[in-house]
Amino acid sequence: MNLEEIKKTAPIEIQNASGLNELENIRIKYLGRRGSLTEILKSLKNLALNQKKKIGPKANSLRESLEKLIQEKKQLLNQVNKFPPIDITAPGKKKEIGHLHPLTQLEEQIEDIFASLGFSIAEGPEIEDEFHNFDALNMPADHPARDMWDTLWLKPQTQNLKLKFQNLLLRTHTSPVQIRYMEKNQPPIRIIAPGRVFRYEASDASHEIEFHQLEGLMVDKNISFANFKSVVSSFLKRLFSKNVEVRFRLSYFPFVEPGVEVDVSCPACDKKGCSLCNQSGWLEIAGAGMVHPKVFEAVGYNPKDWQGFAFGFGIDRVAMIKYNIPDIRLFYSGDLRFIKQF
Ligand code: PHE
Repeated sequence: MNLEEIKKTAPIEIQNASGLNELENIRIKYLGRRGSLTEILKSLKNLALNQKKKIGPKANSLRESLEKLIQEKKQLLNQVNKFPPIDITAPGKKKEIGHLHPLTQLEEQIEDIFASLGFSIAEGPEIEDEFHNFDALNMPADHPARDMWDTLWLKPQTQNLKLKFQNLLLRTHTSPVQIRYMEKNQPPIRIIAPGRVFRYEASDASHEIEFHQLEGLMVDKNISFANFKSVVSSFLKRLFSKNVEVRFRLSYFPFVEPGVEVDVSCPACDKKGCSLCNQSGWLEIAGAGMVHPKVFEAVGYNPKDWQGFAFGFGIDRVAMIKYNIPDIRLFYSGDLRFIKQF
């Protein structure tokens, strides 16, 4: 190849090179140790002086310009490697978006069911005072039933504060919301109160230091236990989407009389007995009862005028039954492998 030919073909080949390997081969072809331009440069020394003067500068400047072209092309190809062209025909990548925590989802579902039964939602503070969490619920300071709730008490910051306010605590149940609502409202009442509660307990598969309850309260003239039975039965049937049965066992809570534990027939085995219900066919699901006259007195209602029922579900417990979850601690672990299943 002579100089003119190289000058014509090499820039085009460099321009069209589609990859770094191809570009390197072109470089070798012209500028390598046996490259055609290199050969011409090497042969200069055999030429006559006037020929040398004529061809030498041309060959050298061609070498320089080819080297520059190769360098530029190399940079360009490197850029393309770093930013590959966008393939608009490629299938889209799925964007990961978050969702509500399973307990929140269930809480909303429960709220919907009760809303359709005419209940509205009430709220109360997580930091409670002794009066609302205990005294007004028929548990004065020395009442032994206070031990039923292992309490996380808050340290008063100064002696002054202690004189001004009563002892503060993290609410041990959602029942104080009953009191707060009745203090501000007159019957008829039909509310639920979902929320976080706290207990000073060692945690294990079925106990956590923090969990969720859903309180219910209905107050009116002539409310009876039969009304409660009807409300709780329709709620549980809707919740588990099947014809579950309900049974009551007598129990004790200072703020209700009579007090009961509510059991639901095991939705997993329909009372045949399985590991979820410990072969018993039944699952304990709530505490409940008819509002105690002392509670009505504490909020200024005349217990002769009003009757009511109250109940408290553990939302975590309901979730564990509904989704067959073996350990309550999973809800609070922040483990995405668990959360993503909902
Ligand atoms: N507050 C009770 C508890 O935490 C549950 C309950 C609520 C019982 C309402 C009766 C009536 O165990």
